[in-house]
This record gives sequence, C-alpha cells and structure tokens, in this order.
Amino acid sequence: MYKLSGVTKNYQKGRGSVAALRGVDLVVEDGEWLAIQGPTGHGKSTLLQILGGLDRPSAGIVDFDGRDLAQLRETEVTRVRAASIGFVFQTFNLVPTLSAQENVEAALVPLRVPAPSRRLRAAAALESLGLGDRLRHVPGELSGGQQQRVAIARALVKEPKVLLADEPTGNLDEDTRDEIIGLLEQLWRERGLTMVLVTHDSSVARRAQRIGVMKNGRLTFKKPARPVNVGPVAAESVVAAESVVAADTEAEG
Ligand SMILES: Nc1ncnc2c1ncn2[C@@H]1O[C@H](COP(=O)(O)OP(=O)(O)OP(=O)(O)O)[C@@H](O)[C@H]1O
Ligand SMILES: [Mg+2]
Repeated sequence: MYKLSGVTKNYQKGRGSVAALRGVDLVVEDGEWLAIQGPTGHGKSTLLQILGGLDRPSAGIVDFDGRDLAQLRETEVTRVRAASIGFVFQTFNLVPTLSAQENVEAALVPLRVPAPSRRLRAAAALESLGLGDRLRHVPGELSGGQQQRVAIARALVKEPKVLLADEPTGNLDEDTRDEIIGLLEQLWRERGLTMVLVTHDSSVARRAQRIGVMKNGRLTFKKPARPVNVGPVAAESVVAAESVVAADTEAEG
C-alpha cells in the first residue's frame, strides 16, 4: 500500500528550521494495522499527515499504490485523499454547526455523490456505528465517544482503503477508549482496511500487528511483545513479517 523511502520533513521556524522527519523508510502492506508510538514532538503527526497527502515531504518518496504523493499535482493528491484515505483525529474535528448526518455526508461531496445517495449512505454509516437515533444531533449534543463514532463514520462512508488515526482515543476515558478501539479493530478486520494509528497509549498500540516508534524524526520497529493480531492479512505473511522485524532488530543491535 505504502512504500516510503528517505522521507524527510523540515519546517521553517523563523530563520532556522525544525527537522520533523529525518529519513523515514517504511513499507505498509495492504490490510496491515501499524501502530506508531513515541515521545511528544518527535514527528508522529507529521508522518501521518504525509501518509495522508495533507502535507508534502521536503525530500523522499511516498509511494501510495504505485504513485508518489510527493510528486503528484495538488488536485491529484486531493482526489486520492478524497477517494482512498480516511482520517480520524484526537479532537474529532467535526463541524459544530452541522448535524451528525451532515458531517458524514460532507465526506461524499468531493466524490460528487448525488445528494439523495449521500443522505442514504451517511445514515447507513451512522446506523452501522450504533448512532441511528442521533442523526440530527449536532456535535455539542453528543458525548465524546459518540462524536468519535461520527468522525469514524465520516472517515469510512467513502469506503477508503486506508484509515489514518492520530491519537483517536486521546480525549476519551478508559471505557470509551476500549469501546472505540474495539470498533476500529472490528472495522479493520471486516473491511480489510489498512490502518496506521498513532497513540501514546501502550495498551492501544499492543493491539496492532506491528508497532513503530518515532524518535527524533526516525522510525524504528518494536518486536511484537505477544502473538500478532492476525487480521485480513494471511497468517503466514504475518509470521514472515515478524521474522523480518526480528532480523531488523538484531541487525540494529
Ligand atoms: N506546521 C509546523 N510548523 C513548524 N514546526 C512544526 C509544524 N508542525 C510540526 N512542527 C514541529 O515538528 C516536530 C514534530 O511535530 P509532530 O506534530 O509531528 O510531533 P508528534 O510526535 O505528533 O507530537 P505529539 O505527540 O505531541 O502529538 C515538532 O518539533 C514540532 O514543533
Ligand atoms: Mg501529534
């Protein structure tokens, strides 16, 4: 799905510049669930933005299904993003004046889905996430967990291949966190999604198939601490991936 090589990102800050990514190499397989951990300010969100075509690297290749997002024209990147990539954020990022239904429908506008079909699909997406009786509520009338469900419906209503989540449970209490992660895991499994999830929470990261750690703009991988989550990816390829990770870890000493 993704093949990144030598990805760097420098932000101009006054006269100086901040190196947010310093040469990231990363392959994300179709249907894989990758978690990314690491200290604050070390490049996790920057990497996710680049994976989602929300930002461009300063150098390097961001191959997404055979096309380099770093080189595509802006209109092309927008099209890829609208059709293929769903986002979920820590602060939900819903439009406060729109109802749950309208927030979800908004994701289908750039895809030129006709209005009647947008309404049906948005309602179905919300119903499938247990919000069938909340379609007309605005975000301020919903709990945090419900707002995150609306955001997940908005991300998935267009049936993207990829779901990128930046600390999706960061603003939720423990029970709601577990509920949202359970939901994401179910959606990942049922839909064969490719999922990259940034989290500070080790109990969340452990549920992924693989854990990457961003530190000082560099990405390394942890050896899975327990049997990896075998989802849509065939069991043998997960075992193969695991031994590659083990070999990498040994090579790095
Ligand atoms: N738009 C920007 N302009 C300038 N510097 C930026 C910008 N965005 C991020 N940075 C800097 O890049 C570095 C990496 O930021 P990033 O947001 O990727 O960190 P993070 O790992 O997601 O942190 P957190 O865990 O706090 O969310 C930080 O030093 C940050 O200050
Ligand atoms: Mg961040």
